[in-house]
Amino acid sequence: MSIVSISNLSFQYARNTIPTLQNINLEINKGDFILLCGPTGCGKTTLCRCLTGLIPHFHSGYFEGDVLIDGLNTKNVPVYRLAKKVGMVFQNPENQLIAMNVERELGFAMENLGYPPETIWEKIEEIIEQFQLQTLRKKAPFELSGGEQQKVAIASILTLDPDIIILDEPTSNLDPLAAEKILGLLKKLNLERNKTIILIEHRLELVAPLINRLLLMDKGKLILDAPPEKALRDKKLKNLGIGIPKIIQLYELLEKEGIHFEKIPLTPFEFAEAIQSIRET
Ligand SMILES: Nc1ncnc2c1ncn2[C@@H]1O[C@H](COP(=O)(O)OP(=O)(O)OP(=O)(O)O)[C@@H](O)[C@H]1O
Ligand SMILES: [Mg+2]
Repeated sequence: MSIVSISNLSFQYARNTIPTLQNINLEINKGDFILLCGPTGCGKTTLCRCLTGLIPHFHSGYFEGDVLIDGLNTKNVPVYRLAKKVGMVFQNPENQLIAMNVERELGFAMENLGYPPETIWEKIEEIIEQFQLQTLRKKAPFELSGGEQQKVAIASILTLDPDIIILDEPTSNLDPLAAEKILGLLKKLNLERNKTIILIEHRLELVAPLINRLLLMDKGKLILDAPPEKALRDKKLKNLGIGIPKIIQLYELLEKEGIHFEKIPLTPFEFAEAIQSIRET
């Protein structure tokens, strides 16, 4: 069974005159690592709000269709119950971090759900250890760097151990090194704990090697759903002005010159390997 099943989903914010999501159908499997992309305003964040239940429970509007999370219909389940299934890190994590310090932040979600204090502290210690937050535990959110804020935001949603983790442009305020660290952490959660990851991200070259599916949206519609090797070569991406990785551009140039690789490379390493194998043949 799919962990997420969306059928005929349409949504229009109460204040808007046109629908933001139009007849979305989507099945997501447990363990999928998905990149969700599309031009600004196409509805990426709105679609993710539908997965967390924030739509329809907090954002009012015209909602049609069904979103099932692990079999639960979001229409009928309160957001706090869905939080155990799906955690979302918002576009600006500094707005999401509200407690006085990191350790309180980590306990916040469990406190709200009424867990006993011993269970909460046990979990806080486990997460601090796992994410190596020892030196940050007494710091206030505003004392953290952008990368540290992201890490704490991810750590705090994991206290509820959700199967699905959604991140809305997690690397947009980070330098390349911090971005790679956060993406590496996500890949680890995906590989080692079979977490389903949904990532909204503009830097395709950083995420392409991590994902197994790329979803492209335009004007509230899902217009492409394919593995990265295929999706990155689809004209729809270029037509929407989405910057495709340099490696893919280079691959296509070489292809035009009659040089064919067996497999489409997604990392510089794979590219080097492909070149090597051509030289050997
Ligand atoms: N809370 C809201 N109330 C009313 N309209 C909204 C709200 N949030 C988003 N919208 C509208 O819905 C449309 C889609 O917005 P959304 O934020 O989902 O796009 P996005 O693909 O995430 O864009 P971006 O890449 O800029 O983050 C836009 O026209 C936006 O103005
Ligand atoms: Mg957005």
